[in-house]
Amino acid sequence: MFEATASAPVNIATLKYWGKRDVNLNLPTNSSISVTLAQDDLRATTTARASSEFAKDELYLNDTLEPLGKRTLQVLAELRALRAEIEQKDPSAPKIADLKLQIVSVNNFPTAAGLASSAAGFAALVKSISLLYKLPHNDSELSVLARQGSGSACRSMFGGYVAWEMGSETNGLDSRAVQIADVNHWPNMKALILVVCAEKKDVSSTSGMQITVETSGLFTERVNTLVPELFVKMKKAILDRDFGSFAKYTMVDSNQFHAVCLDSYPPIFYMNDVSKSAVRAIHELNDQYKEPIAAYTFDAGPNCVVYYLEENEEAVLSHLGQAVSNVNGFPVEKMGSTPASTSTPKWA
Ligand code: ADP
Ligand code: DP6
Ligand code: CO
Repeated sequence: MFEATASAPVNIATLKYWGKRDVNLNLPTNSSISVTLAQDDLRATTTARASSEFAKDELYLNDTLEPLGKRTLQVLAELRALRAEIEQKDPSAPKIADLKLQIVSVNNFPTAAGLASSAAGFAALVKSISLLYKLPHNDSELSVLARQGSGSACRSMFGGYVAWEMGSETNGLDSRAVQIADVNHWPNMKALILVVCAEKKDVSSTSGMQITVETSGLFTERVNTLVPELFVKMKKAILDRDFGSFAKYTMVDSNQFHAVCLDSYPPIFYMNDVSKSAVRAIHELNDQYKEPIAAYTFDAGPNCVVYYLEENEEAVLSHLGQAVSNVNGFPVEKMGSTPASTSTPKWA
């Protein structure tokens, strides 16, 4: 039996990926930017085992057997092909490429609830198997594989501030993650996760974005105009540690992303009334300070991620605590108040 374990943290996009130009290779319609959360907070931990005793490939997610989707099978096939090359070149390397795999993964946060479980999940899957297979590839090369499992997963291959460059090649080899800056670049950045609802969403990200691409007129404006401008501006705001601009662009993008969801037919609602109360509360707070000291963003789900600087923690927490915690009787759980980024993910 051969075995390796790896974990990968969640990343939360501040400029969202939403839309595929190639569904088979998982190539996006736009470049995106995210912040990787700390490894100790929201993460997926995956153990990959290869053994002649396994009759078929299996994936257990949070103790339940998960059907192997087309994209998972594709990622496994690519990883195996890379291992087979090693075995061909080096006859002394153990022959494990053809052995069946047992993959066991656990998320320490809600799965499929809009907190990027597919990102942490596929990054951890690719890392654990590349360790098992002793692949020599660097994180950017592995991000191309993780992308094929779930687009957002390519960005979880790095800590800190990360861009997924959409690329232009049809084979997808240049559609990969690159680090904009590491965690130490902006050490007082923090992220707060407000778990509004931990249940599985009705519309997965994969199907939601497909509905948007096929039906939303506003989506063309998003992809052709708004996102390319924000990509350049947001990268600069991060490099300049300009929180006011970073916060504004993050909120503008989150709002625009949810607007194209609403503009889809049938419309997709990811945010609920509690999510909206968090938006209102943060604008109220920023108005009080006459500049943004906190930024909300919502992925494909109702849960809110708030970015802020450490020196404003008390103001942000106390304002949100009062404004959001009991809105409409919904419990809002504070899941983590973490440094928003982490060092390069640990390889177990
Ligand atoms: P999220 O907003 O949580 O990323 P998605 O709809 O994008 O939700 O993806 C959820 C799906 O990702 C799950 O149903 C599962 O198929 C896959 N997934 C989540 N966590 C893992 C994991 N740790 N390992 C493998 N696949 C995972
Ligand atoms: C709103 O990466 O989950 O979180 O590639 O189909 O697996 P698939 O989609 P996924 O979509 C993420 C959408 C998002 C924005 C983002 O993370 O950039
Ligand atoms: Co996802």
